[in-house]
Formats: sequence, C-alpha cells, structure tokens
Amino acid sequence: MRFAAIFLLLIPLRILAQEEAIYLNVDAPIELRVEDALSRMTLEEKVDMCHGHSKFTSAGVPRLGIPQIWWSDGPHGVRAEFLADKYVYDDRLDDFITAFPALTALAATWNPELAYEYGQALGDEALYRGKTVMLGPGLNICRTPLNGRNFEYMGEDPMLCAEMAIPYIQGLQSKGVAACVKHFALNNQENWRLDIDVQCSDRALHEIYLPAFKRAVAEGGAWALMGGYNRVRGEHASHNKLLLCDILRRQWNYDGVVVSDWGGAHDTFQAANNGLDVEMGTSSPYNKNILADPYLEAMRSGLIDSTTVNEKVRNILRLIFRTSMSGKRGFGAICTPAHYELCRQIGEESIVLLKNNGILPLEPNQKRRILVVGENATLPLNLAGGSSELKVKDMYSPLDAIRNIYGEEVVYTPGYKSGPYTYNVENPVPQEVTESLHREAVAMARQADVVIYIGGLNKNSYQDCENRDRYTYNLIFGQDSLINALADVNPNIIVANISGAPFAMPWIDKVPAVIQSWYLGTMIGPAMADVISGRANPSGKLPFSFPKRIEDCGAHALGQLSYPGVEDADGRHHQEYLDDIMVGYRWYDTKKIPALFPFGYGLSYTTFKCGKPTLEKHGQNWTVDVPVTNTGKTDGKETLQLYVCDVKSRLPRPAKELKAFSKVYLKPGETKNVILTLSPDDLKYYDPEVSDWVLEPGKFQLLIGTSSTNISHKINIEI
Ligand code: BGC
Repeated sequence: MRFAAIFLLLIPLRILAQEEAIYLNVDAPIELRVEDALSRMTLEEKVDMCHGHSKFTSAGVPRLGIPQIWWSDGPHGVRAEFLADKYVYDDRLDDFITAFPALTALAATWNPELAYEYGQALGDEALYRGKTVMLGPGLNICRTPLNGRNFEYMGEDPMLCAEMAIPYIQGLQSKGVAACVKHFALNNQENWRLDIDVQCSDRALHEIYLPAFKRAVAEGGAWALMGGYNRVRGEHASHNKLLLCDILRRQWNYDGVVVSDWGGAHDTFQAANNGLDVEMGTSSPYNKNILADPYLEAMRSGLIDSTTVNEKVRNILRLIFRTSMSGKRGFGAICTPAHYELCRQIGEESIVLLKNNGILPLEPNQKRRILVVGENATLPLNLAGGSSELKVKDMYSPLDAIRNIYGEEVVYTPGYKSGPYTYNVENPVPQEVTESLHREAVAMARQADVVIYIGGLNKNSYQDCENRDRYTYNLIFGQDSLINALADVNPNIIVANISGAPFAMPWIDKVPAVIQSWYLGTMIGPAMADVISGRANPSGKLPFSFPKRIEDCGAHALGQLSYPGVEDADGRHHQEYLDDIMVGYRWYDTKKIPALFPFGYGLSYTTFKCGKPTLEKHGQNWTVDVPVTNTGKTDGKETLQLYVCDVKSRLPRPAKELKAFSKVYLKPGETKNVILTLSPDDLKYYDPEVSDWVLEPGKFQLLIGTSSTNISHKINIEI
C-alpha cells in the first residue's frame, strides 16, 4: 500500500521531469526544444547570449546546461586558438591542422562533389577542435581583381559560387558543425571596409550580389550568416534592415543566426531591431557591448521592444540544438591521410593550365637541368592572409615536391625577395638586394635546360590579404622584369603562378607555358608538381576573368566613385557600383573587351570535342544533351558550360550568363553525353519596377562551350 502511494506520487513527478527535459531531448522537434528552453530563461540570460564572451565564444545558459558557442575561422581550415580576450595566439600544441585549398581553388575545380567532401573533411577537423560554427564560406563576388580577399571567395559568377557553396555547406553541416556564410552583403573590397557606404541598384543586388547567399540559405540550409563590415544604403550591413529583415528573414525565410562581423555592430537600437542576433569581435568588459547592458537597459526602460530578444535567442538556441546539442556530433579527426589526399585531389583539379606550347607536361624521366626560381616555391603561404591564416601541421612545398619527382639535383634560387611594404612603394626591398637576386637567377637560368618560375602574390598586406586591396594589378617585387629577363636567356620557361586573384602578364607572349595555381594549403607542392609532371592532367577552369589591364574591368572603368569610392568632408567613404550588373565576363563580353584569359577557361593535356547538342523539353524545363569526346591521348576532365543570351529585352542584359555546367571524366577515345538542365527561372531578369524576377517572352540563345568565350554551339529557343 505504501509502495503504491509512493509510486502514484512519482508518476506526476516523472511527467514533470519529462516535460522539463524537452529541450534536452535530442529526438524532440527542434522548435519544441527552442520554445521549452526559451520559456525557462531570464531576460538577463537571454541578453547574455547575444554578444561575445571572449574573442571567439558567445554564451550558452550554464544554469540549463546549454553550452556556449565556439566560433572559428574559416573558411579553408580551423584557425589556431586565441587567448580569450586578446587577438594573440595561445601558442598551443594541439591546434595544428590541415590547410585545405582556398575557396578560389575549390571554385576552380567546377566540381560540386569535391565541395561536399571538402565540407565534410573540414567539419571533421572542426569537430576535433570542438567548434560549433565555421566562419565560411565567403560568398562575395569578385568585382575587382584588386580585392584583398578574392582568394577567400568563389569568383565572379553567382551561379558558380552558389553551386560550389551549397555542397560545401551541406558537407560541413552533415557533421553537426554550422556553416556561417559571409560577408552579407556588398562587401566586395577591403579598402575602407569598416565604413564604406555602398550604393548599388536593386537589379545588381538581386542578380549579382545576393543569389549565392540566397541559395546558400534556401538550398544549402546554412545555419549561420555573418553581416559585412561595410554599410549598405547608409546602414551597417551587420544590422541593416533591408538586408537582414526585409530580404533575409522575410523574403528568404531564414531561421538561422545572424552574427556581426567581428566588431561590425555599432548601434544598439539598429542591432536590436534589424535582425542581428549575436554581436562578436567585442572586448572585455563584455557587459558593455552593444547587445549587452545597453540592450538590456533599453528593453527595461521600454525604449526597445523586449520581444526582440526572444527572436534572437530562438535563432541562437536553434543553432545550438542543430550542432552541439544535436546528439549527432562525432569526435572528428585532423590531418588524416584522407584529408591530405582530398587536398591533393582538389588542388590538382583546381590548377588552371593557361598556356602551353607543348613544353608541359615536363616528362619526369628525361635527363635535364631544372632550375626553380621564385619565392613562392618555398614560402609557408598558409601563415598569412588575415583571419583565414592557418597553423598547419604539414605543408609540402612546391620545391620539395618538384625535387621528389625530378631529383635532388633540381637547383633553386629565389630570384626576388618580398618584404613588408607600405602603400605605393613599388618595391620595399633595397634595390641592391633585388638586383643581385635577379642577376643570380638570370645567370643560373642560362645554365639550365628548363626554368620553372614559381611566384605570384603571397598573402601579405596588399598581396591577397584582408584589410587592404592590392594597389597595383601587376606582380610586384620586380617579378615582371625578372620573368622577362629569364625568358630572354632561356625560352624553356614555365611560369607557375600562385595567387587568389587575377594579375597582369606583360610577359605572356615570351613564355611558352603558364599555369595558375591557388593557395592550395598543405598539399600545394604535390598538387603543383603532379600537374607540371603530367601525373595529373589539369582540369581547372578560371572562376574569374583575367583582364589584360585593370582599366578594362567594369568596376575600374567608371571612375573613382565606382572603385575604390570617395571620401567626403567628414572622412566617410562612399561608393556606387556603376558597373551595375556588368560584373566580370558580363562586362567584358557585353562591351567586347577581350580578356587576357576569360572566365571558365582552362586547357588540358588532352583534347576534347563537343558534338552537336540536342535540346529536349521536359515539362517546364529543358535539357541539353551534349556528346563530348576525348580526342587526345590521356585521361582528362572537361567542363561543359551553358550560357544564356537574351536576344532582345526591355532592360539591358549581359551578352551571356552562366546557367548550367557539368564536369565529365573521359578516357582517350571515349565519348559521354553531358546533360545540362535549364529552367524558365534561368531566363529571367530582376525587374526593379515590380521588385521581382520576370520572364519576358522572346528569343533566347543557349550557348554551349568550354569557356565563356569558347562557344562551340548555339541553340535558339523562343518563349
Ligand atoms: C573578418 C571575418 C572573420 C572575423 C573573425 C573579421 O575581421 O572579416 O571574415 O571571420 O574577423 O576572425
């Protein structure tokens, strides 16, 4: 009897305990967990979650056992640990990691399957390091070759960018680690990045700068998004009503977290009301931060609606339940052979063969004296670049990898020396140093059978680096004159460039071969050496055009207001994107300005032939079936690209726009049919008059080819 009474008493307690545990129950629907946790929190606890508590953490709810969020850069590896309150590395021994290829490289593979694997591998490394959110991928469009952060982004075309970002996000999040797409939006340069106020038409916003973000959210399902530092139509992007409330939340139904760029929140009222959830990059005492005590007090005094914090906390809890409290996270792994192999594969598939008169591939078994010239053959390039810099466990340099293949007798000389420098100093290195290195390289080149030049940019300030754009389109440190001089004394020169952005090549006609490599991280050396030696057949395609001159680029052709912007009497900076929707190849092709190397371009050691395509209608959509044959002697991959041209339209449209692509692997003599799919949406433009996408009836051409300018077939359709 007594036992029965106790038992009966325990039943309601059990039910209560079960109810109490909803937010802890990993099998319960996330929205129930969110509401349950929210209902248990005090106002102070809620506000506590909305700002940083160290340089890279924001608060959980300790009383409820909800863990803090660990944020980490991003985007191509897990960054080393910092001291809690200073931007100073912690000098730990357990944070050496894999440097994955930078995102320009990933984009240059044009291979979404590799992007998924990339995301998964990165997710494993993030798990091992206990991270909740990886700050990437970067989805800003390459508007100018000079943007210091082009290397962290995925090129000049919104469709390519989205197609590569979606699988990256899905792969990463499949591990229970959130992707944080950044920097939303119109953050397309580093000069004056903290305050520049960007004006851009609705059309350019929706056709060029937003689509990759939209698809990353809608199709990739990104759980976090970072607002940019810049201003957009007067308001800082990290608490911008148009971008975050009207577009992101209302139009795209985004239910993830919005985090400010580090130090990118400036105003409590705007941060509270305009869709920012977490303010990061702040300093101690953290309770003084914009979304800390000032926010709490404004809510208490009724100046700010106190329900705003519930919306923020819902988003933050949802993120935590999707990640660290999902019950689905493994332990992860770092620097595994599989991760290194993946880096090598992505590296090899990303390298773009720009020019080849037959000197490449350089057969390994032939006896010849090889000279390697150039600092980038040995520089640890992962260590620089700004927030994406990485502390790598291993980095296999191009020089070592070349010696592995061609023997220790390969000789090396740097040929030039980079140095710290300030704006507008052509070469900060003492002239006599530059001259003597230059002389030595030229003398050695006379004695060599082949010269492999490995130079380019180097991720130091003004050279593919956060916070500063490059100030010149040319390679610096005397590299142009060095390449010229080397080519004068030795015509067998292969230029193997490493950079994350286009640059001028005044020596292009004098050199027989050029390969474009990117910051390939840990496996940069093996990937480059494999391509040089022919162990790998290059199949990378440019994710952005290389204009001949910087003045040819749309952003630069239209005056200072367009790039880099102008300073007003109060020292504030303003900019108008006068190039509008004509970015990258859209500009070059419409204005008929030939680029040095066009978007989508890249050669191979084999040859391909595209047969006559056939068009079929499937419901609303079309498919274009293109037979592609490998007509050469080696295995290889080719990327078929489909561009759309609107023959006549009410609003001006670019000469062509990429709408589909597919990469195919073919053995010599083999033919495969590549299917490219097109939907009516692919024919639309954004009409600012109706604030929507419009399909205007008329004639369209489908252009099929292997680069934006190498179009082999045209198909006419009419709507
Ligand atoms: C960068 C972000 C980065 C953040 C955290 C900022 O300066 O713009 O891309 O994620 O720092 O390091």
